[in-house]
Amino acid sequence: MRLTYTSDLWWKNAVIYCLDVETYKDGDGDGIGDFRGLTQQIDYLNSLGVTCLWLMPFFPTPNKDDGYDITDFYSVDPRLGTLGDFVEFMRTAKDRGMRVIADLVVNHTSDQHPWFKASRSSKDSPYRDWYVWSDTPEPDDPKAIVFPDKEDSLWELDEKTGQYYFHSFYRFQPDLNVANPEVRDEIARILGFWMELGLSGFRVDAVPFLIENVGDKLPDPHAFLADLRAFMSRREGGSILLGEVNLPYKDLVAYFGDGNGDQLTMCFDFILMQRTWLALARNEAGPIVEALSARSKPPKDSQWGTFLRNHDELTLDKLSDEERQEVFDAFGPEKDMQIYGRGLRRRLPSMLGGDLRRIKMAYSLLLSMPGTPVIFYGEEIGMGENLDEEGRMAVRIPMQWSRSGGFSDATPVRKTPKGTFGPERVNVADQKRDPDSLLRWFQLLIERYRECPELAWGENTVLKTGHPAVVAHRCDADGSTVVAVHNLSDTAAEVELVLKDLGDRMLTDLLADETMEIIDGKVRLPMSPHGCRWLRAAPREDMPPEDASITAQ
Ligand code: NOJ
Repeated sequence: MRLTYTSDLWWKNAVIYCLDVETYKDGDGDGIGDFRGLTQQIDYLNSLGVTCLWLMPFFPTPNKDDGYDITDFYSVDPRLGTLGDFVEFMRTAKDRGMRVIADLVVNHTSDQHPWFKASRSSKDSPYRDWYVWSDTPEPDDPKAIVFPDKEDSLWELDEKTGQYYFHSFYRFQPDLNVANPEVRDEIARILGFWMELGLSGFRVDAVPFLIENVGDKLPDPHAFLADLRAFMSRREGGSILLGEVNLPYKDLVAYFGDGNGDQLTMCFDFILMQRTWLALARNEAGPIVEALSARSKPPKDSQWGTFLRNHDELTLDKLSDEERQEVFDAFGPEKDMQIYGRGLRRRLPSMLGGDLRRIKMAYSLLLSMPGTPVIFYGEEIGMGENLDEEGRMAVRIPMQWSRSGGFSDATPVRKTPKGTFGPERVNVADQKRDPDSLLRWFQLLIERYRECPELAWGENTVLKTGHPAVVAHRCDADGSTVVAVHNLSDTAAEVELVLKDLGDRMLTDLLADETMEIIDGKVRLPMSPHGCRWLRAAPREDMPPEDASITAQ
């Protein structure tokens, strides 16, 4: 594959790392992470192999929804630093070749935002129509209430003006009215502002809510997305929109743009994520195979964002009730681990019981999947959750840099867990020194992922393995092939793959020092418990010398 393509469309095989400035590294000793602290960690992120950072909201906020309630879209939360600190951080990231995207949360503002204060001040305010008001709201659909632990309606009465305002999420997050052209212009201005300061794009919060919350007042909601994308492309051709669109595949594809990819550049694959958790719960490949077979190829130049865990609850809302219960039983049986009746507030390593082989396999599977992997900070060292923190904050805990924590010289506002997943046992410093650590495994996986653009760019085919616990897929691009094989179970397995068209080649295992012959168009692969293999098909003459190879029969 020509690498020039992969640079132009950098997002197609990027490695995206999501972090919250507030919990990453405290640079001024007040117990809260900040841009100065984060900037000092850029070389760590660079050595991990990350190519793009996704910053969770860092804007001024009353912080009632961890920064997803914004009061000023054009500045930095003073707790996290200044615009000057932000620019210094951007410059340092750029120097190490890293791109940066940030959360774009424009479905709603904080109710403390000056726009909303003006809007609610009077029905005649020029800002009245910036939000969604009604005298007679439609009755609520209980299923549409996103945070049922705190809210029982999507409408809130504003006593002063006697009308109700709409809020898709918490009542302190009134929805902006994107049917109003002034609001749409303002959103473009926000994008333009941060792009001028160097951002390569945005992770767009709650996209279906954003474009659907105004009913039929916006005749073509998808045209709004296409307009935003066109605006960004005019300003900077390589900028992206990565959308949070948790919908079934059939409804989701429209968010890429009707076949031509002119809307969201990337969409998170919530379906593959959820089916992977079901597969892990069952130790069976089936649910992953179903998802891979059901999802369509994104339009040219677009891409899937793959992930196993993000900053929210591990939502299992697209599984059936029985399937969700299976995942709960396997990974979050206690009520306190569950949230909103649909998800878990745990991190992957603790859900997998700290079993390093299994954790390594799960991330190998993730990085081998067709798409661009998105990693949540701390996954690379196997951080767990702290269930003593409220709700989703259980997983948004301080990064664990050293045995004593290393996040801050002061007492952090949020706490790391104690015991098995606490900083004494799970931290960056120790894992840097340990060649078998998860951190080293991540470095290897990321290096290989970047060396194998076929995984992200190629034609993807699920292969038959004949074994219920083993999933295999191949990715072909420009005449080169990579095959990935993963054993979900804790018992050894042997599988036979049919690779007829590759009969004249041999397979090199990119994660271990092994080569395999393809005999009569087939290869037999021994798979260790939770084993994983990434196999590159290469001409025989390119193979390592004889003594470094084994012949699989
Ligand atoms: C989705 C974000 O991921 C979540 O953290 C937030 O609470 C809601 N949007 C509301 O902004």
